[in-house]
Amino acid sequence: MASITAHRGSLFHLLDDPRKDSEAYEFIDDALLVIADGRIQSMGPYSQIKPTLAADINIEEHPDAILCPGFFDLHIHFPQLTTTAVYGEQLLGWLNTIIPQEEVYKDQSHASQCAELFLGELLRNGTTTAAVYGSWAKESVNALFEKAADLNLRLGAGKVMADRNMPEGISLTSPEQDYDDSKELIERWHGHKRLSYITTPRFAISCTPDDLRVCRRLLDEHPDSYLQTHLSENPREIEFTLELFPECKSYLDVYDSYGLLGPRTLFGHCIHLEDSDFQRVSETGSVLCPNPPSNFFLGSGLFKFQAAKEHGVRMALGTDFGAGNTFSMLNSMENGYKMAQLQGYSLSPFEAFYHSTLGGARALSMDQQVGNFLPGKEADFIVLDKTATPFIEWRLQHASTPSEILFVLMMLGDDRAIRATYVAGQQVHCKAA
Ligand code: GUN
Ligand code: ZN
Repeated sequence: MASITAHRGSLFHLLDDPRKDSEAYEFIDDALLVIADGRIQSMGPYSQIKPTLAADINIEEHPDAILCPGFFDLHIHFPQLTTTAVYGEQLLGWLNTIIPQEEVYKDQSHASQCAELFLGELLRNGTTTAAVYGSWAKESVNALFEKAADLNLRLGAGKVMADRNMPEGISLTSPEQDYDDSKELIERWHGHKRLSYITTPRFAISCTPDDLRVCRRLLDEHPDSYLQTHLSENPREIEFTLELFPECKSYLDVYDSYGLLGPRTLFGHCIHLEDSDFQRVSETGSVLCPNPPSNFFLGSGLFKFQAAKEHGVRMALGTDFGAGNTFSMLNSMENGYKMAQLQGYSLSPFEAFYHSTLGGARALSMDQQVGNFLPGKEADFIVLDKTATPFIEWRLQHASTPSEILFVLMMLGDDRAIRATYVAGQQVHCKAA
């Protein structure tokens, strides 16, 4: 017998990309979401679904709350727990300060303790899927995957590859070691439970041509795995990259010339892209992952939301914690809105939620499994609290349309607005009363 539970509350999810169809969402004031063995069995208005349920099915009531698919954070660093909120310079100077502190994650028992804290913060903030950078040490990724497997999370991660240009005193890897360690991690974790491996060259500056060739080889050998890296974040970074790869036309072209663009590649930041870059990204189906909180923190610049829309690129938001000073995707949406405003573009709440839910699932080609509440999908969802704070509760009494309600939550909400988080139908976080 299937184990069935039902949840009653308001319900919101996206059905398609609002950049193409602004009506492609569903908002139901009084809904029932029915879950059987960790998957969505049915959903819809309470009045329609309730009569289809056996009388003894337990219904969890979520008054003053909205059931929403779990958030996706498609760019985040696990070994930066102690280096978030560190005062300092822009990107390259900041990296020199923080990278040495990633060294301690080679100790697996330390990394395990940190993984518990890190995953706990993701869940407290309503993030149920993330694309995570580990440290260069495979132990950091083993520790993270072990804890994520225990929680049955849908999570991707990889050890960072960096065989040159690291701050003094830092362990450099080699292409051979990067290959061996990544391969070992792929064989152990990729496809285990709900986990995926993401080959993770830190960025072009820290990878020799041989290291970038290793990335291509890993993708060839494991075509359903992923790749993530940083792209075009900061003007000085771009200048240095082009000095190292003088034969390349642009920063994007560096990765392109090593065959690293494609539908399973996630590029973080992507701030200073030209039109020709957007076009190439679009042609190859590569994914852009802007990280507004980090970009404001490091003063890196403004992601071009309008150009991304015009070129129809696949994209999903991230926080880039620890340069981002938050785990909250609601904060990332808020900062994304402000970033777009600075360029005369108004990011709608539906776009922001799309880039943090269904868009994230599509970016990972996982939208058959997660991303919204269509029957058959895995039940990763959150309960957004309309009474998160006295002021949010009051402000929402003056908001009536779905757009107004979601916008208030994304502008005023944070971890306090996540009443509970469920993974494959199981509660993994519940806010203290
Ligand atoms: N570029 C290379 N490494 C990093 C990192 O850890 N954070 C950010 N924001 N950019 C990077
Ligand atoms: Zn990053």
